[in-house]
Amino acid sequence: MRNAFGLEQHKMNAQQLIDSARRLFAADKGLLAMDESNPTCNKRFAKLDIPQTVDARRAYRELIVTTPSLGECISGAILYDETIRQQKKDGTPFLKILVDAGIIPGIKVDTGAKDLAAHPGEKITEGLDGLRERLQEYFQMGARFAKWRAVIAIGEDIPSRSCIEANAQALARYAALCQEAGLVPVVEPEVLMNGNHTLEVCRKVTEEVLRNVFIQLNCQRVLLEGMILKPNMVLPGLTCSTQESADEVADTTMKSLWRTVPAAVPAIAFLSGGQSAELASARLNTMNHRFKTQLPWALAFSFARAIQQPALEIWRGQDINVKAAQQALVHRARCNRAARRGEYTAAMEKT
Ligand code: 13P
Repeated sequence: MRNAFGLEQHKMNAQQLIDSARRLFAADKGLLAMDESNPTCNKRFAKLDIPQTVDARRAYRELIVTTPSLGECISGAILYDETIRQQKKDGTPFLKILVDAGIIPGIKVDTGAKDLAAHPGEKITEGLDGLRERLQEYFQMGARFAKWRAVIAIGEDIPSRSCIEANAQALARYAALCQEAGLVPVVEPEVLMNGNHTLEVCRKVTEEVLRNVFIQLNCQRVLLEGMILKPNMVLPGLTCSTQESADEVADTTMKSLWRTVPAAVPAIAFLSGGQSAELASARLNTMNHRFKTQLPWALAFSFARAIQQPALEIWRGQDINVKAAQQALVHRARCNRAARRGEYTAAMEKT
């Protein structure tokens, strides 16, 4: 039993979490995931012949956080441990730049997806050891939300029930620890697009994963009103010969979310998962255009590649390209804000 002080404290904490979650999805804005781990960031740099150094990563993140008008469409930015401690060339901390732009800082806190023992082809996300202390530090630094990504692959005989359950439990334990520390947990169970599976297979797997995730979240006493779900859209595998239209993707994705995500959750913010930037915007737009008035949750975005990739390809590590890259970044942010309103059109890509 909690004592009287504990109960008051708990209620205050709950209200703060609810308010923070609401602020993250106000005014049709969304999240920018710029939390690639160093190995992932280096891999993307290598493809474009950008040096894979601390300073190149710092310069790229400086380009992002200093993008003019970014705060008009982006409410929160998810950072990586290296980035949350970095500064602009002139010494201004990235955290200050974000807060001054009205962007709430968030932090990726998992330590990556590792091979799940005895389960070839499957992963378990790690990072629970010492997490309570790390979350306290990030909160003191100014972070107000956090992210943990679980990865579920589709293939022959996978995903296994044990992989789904282990990842769902880790997500729920992470989410409870976040809420204890005053951080809104972004709960990200990603069913991967890799493979030739059909839309229907992705639907079945996504529903099973989400059902398990919410069982575990409830079991660990996570306050659903103070969290954000970051799922995949329900899509056919990248190499599946049938690629459904945006309408079919929207229908199937909405059906799965309606069946599995409680109405108490304030927002669903999709990952992009390797879709092209335009497709991610078009599909989010279709869902909002057709279903927005019937939805209990905000339907938003928390994209990394679908916001950043065009900008990264323009920048290529060259100072001279910074301005054009920033324009590309803010353009994608605008397209996705329009998609939250159901007002995105292909014509926006030509402006
Ligand atoms: P993508 O939008 O590139 O899938 O990344 C989202 C993300 O944050 C993955 O954890």
